[in-house]
Amino acid sequence: MSSPGSQSIQSVLKETRTFAPPATFSAQAHISSRQQYEAMWKKAKDDPAGFWGEMAENLDWFRRWDTVLQGQMPETKWFSGAKINASYNCVDRHLKGSRRNKAAIIWEGEPGDTRVLRYQDLHREVCRFANVLKQLGVQLGDRVTLYMPMIPELTIAMLACARIGAVHSIIFGGFSADAVADRNNDAQAKVVVTADGGWRRGKEVPLKAAVDASLDRSPTVEKVVVVRRTGGEVDMVPDRDFWWHELMQGVPAECDAVQLDSEHPLFILYTSGSTGKPKGVMHTTAGYLLGTTMTSRWVFDLKEEDTYWCTADIGWITGHSYICYGPLSNGATVMMYEGAPNWPDEGRFWELIEKYRVSIFYTAPTAIRAFIKWGNHWPEKYDLSSLRLLGSVGEPINPEAWMWYHRVIGQERCPIVDTWWQTETGSIMVSPLPGVTPTKPGSCCHPLPGVVPDIVTRTGQSLGANEGGLLVMRQPWPSMLRTLYGDHERFKKTYFSEVAGCYFAGDGARHDEDGYLWVMGRVDDVLNVSGHRLSTMEVESALVAHPQVAEAAVVGFPHEIKGEGICCFVTLKSGEGDDGLKVELTQHVRQAIGALATPDQVRFATALPKTRSGKIMRRLLRDIAAGRESTQDTTTLEDLSILAKLRSDEE
Ligand code: WTA
Repeated sequence: MSSPGSQSIQSVLKETRTFAPPATFSAQAHISSRQQYEAMWKKAKDDPAGFWGEMAENLDWFRRWDTVLQGQMPETKWFSGAKINASYNCVDRHLKGSRRNKAAIIWEGEPGDTRVLRYQDLHREVCRFANVLKQLGVQLGDRVTLYMPMIPELTIAMLACARIGAVHSIIFGGFSADAVADRNNDAQAKVVVTADGGWRRGKEVPLKAAVDASLDRSPTVEKVVVVRRTGGEVDMVPDRDFWWHELMQGVPAECDAVQLDSEHPLFILYTSGSTGKPKGVMHTTAGYLLGTTMTSRWVFDLKEEDTYWCTADIGWITGHSYICYGPLSNGATVMMYEGAPNWPDEGRFWELIEKYRVSIFYTAPTAIRAFIKWGNHWPEKYDLSSLRLLGSVGEPINPEAWMWYHRVIGQERCPIVDTWWQTETGSIMVSPLPGVTPTKPGSCCHPLPGVVPDIVTRTGQSLGANEGGLLVMRQPWPSMLRTLYGDHERFKKTYFSEVAGCYFAGDGARHDEDGYLWVMGRVDDVLNVSGHRLSTMEVESALVAHPQVAEAAVVGFPHEIKGEGICCFVTLKSGEGDDGLKVELTQHVRQAIGALATPDQVRFATALPKTRSGKIMRRLLRDIAAGRESTQDTTTLEDLSILAKLRSDEE
């Protein structure tokens, strides 16, 4: 079979073309001209309060605000004095007109079972589960852990928490029991909502068993609610564990949405930083909702008739913002799929697009690289003509993957939005506008209205075209994180101390001569494995917790599918490492963090290369892991013979 994808791989290495939005797309887009975008961007920069006050008319408020913006980064407050509820905005406000009978969620399970919830169904289920939470003793501000598969109950539980002012903390189902316990404790969660299991590549992921294992170390958790999903065996502890379907029986299908302050916490989401334990990124109600609502409209150009599919797991920020809050606040029809893209075969995603006539498709570069590897014959078997817009998120997209996405999936018809943002930013910050921006493969293009980025040196000096530096934000925006849960000092230090007066994103970037932004990846010790953030430090801590390990250094290396792979350099307390111990250490890390942190390489070393001041020379290790000749200055290396030893270990 001919393969336009593989032809493009060679040609795009020299790719300098730009791709203008099709005129037909621009003509119908929410933002349809460069002038319109520029006027919005300028207004938001010069008069943020005026701009965001106007945008806030797109939400429903119980009480209007006294001020739009108070304070300066990092201590900002948005929409003070107002009362609002995110659940009300995502559900209730759509019940008045025809959206009442519109599909809110079209769901397909991995085994092929399906469910459709209209907005009125979603309302009923959210109200009932909100009442269940209240019955279980959940009160305003209490934290509720959600550790669930991708099933509608997850969205229902999120919106039920939001409805009563409880704070959800979602833990991705791929994390281990240890990770669940850590997060339960940090958030001091009162209730955990889970399922017996979820389906992944035809196998059951046993979620309830992991919750059980976490609970002896989660003293604050009082109750567990279990959705029956797979029908697998679970242990139910009387008075602690309850079945979702039993609790839902007979509870009223009405529950008033609580009128919350704008800055009431909406959720905590844990993410990896370069040091210490995971950070509980905290988002608040009004600003987050406004950011996700407007960016869903601007970037995905959501229209009444769209069927929109974001393939992320809700356990990550992308799922929070662009499966739940953003699209539902816009009254969109959201497609949700439980399982793996290659189950029962590699055509599953394309089959789903054909079956549901998906019009907007948002996925990650790591998935795109897997699709390329699996071959064009999979997408070519299906009718993808319903697609009108494609999106990418999670890591820089290589130009060759971009070109493949454009040609094979978008059939040269669909604009691609490469969206740069973070757990901390809450909503998309830098992205093409699909009806406006001529795109360049690999660039996330321009800041959205309200976003004022800069690329600076460590001392805060702005850099010129094609000079790589640190990506910072010079102005606050409504959906920015407000704190790290329980550690406001760390919040200030991590994001606001690196470059004075700015939010520091942790990414390196450059502007090109046309003002396009190119993100170059992390500048700290954070790995981006399949679009998932992992800290090298967490993997190192897990390794060092093994009784035979003396010291460990973990670095990323380029990986064909995952973007970055995990390479662990390990020194032992005594004896020599062998293949058996490699397997054991690999398992050990999986157990401590989860399958997503599974090391790709474990290498034993007699010592780790350090500078004379004792710092591990990570850049050197990165070169070794990638099999590159090091360009690093090794003059400060403590013991040069170590370097030779590490290299010879590779053979
Ligand atoms: C990276 C995911 C380049 C970046 C929404 C960022 C990207 C980190 C892009 C945040 C993109 C995300 N181009 N890099 N379009 N999108 N990143 O918190 O390094 O899971 O800092 O949020 O992913 O990852 P997080």
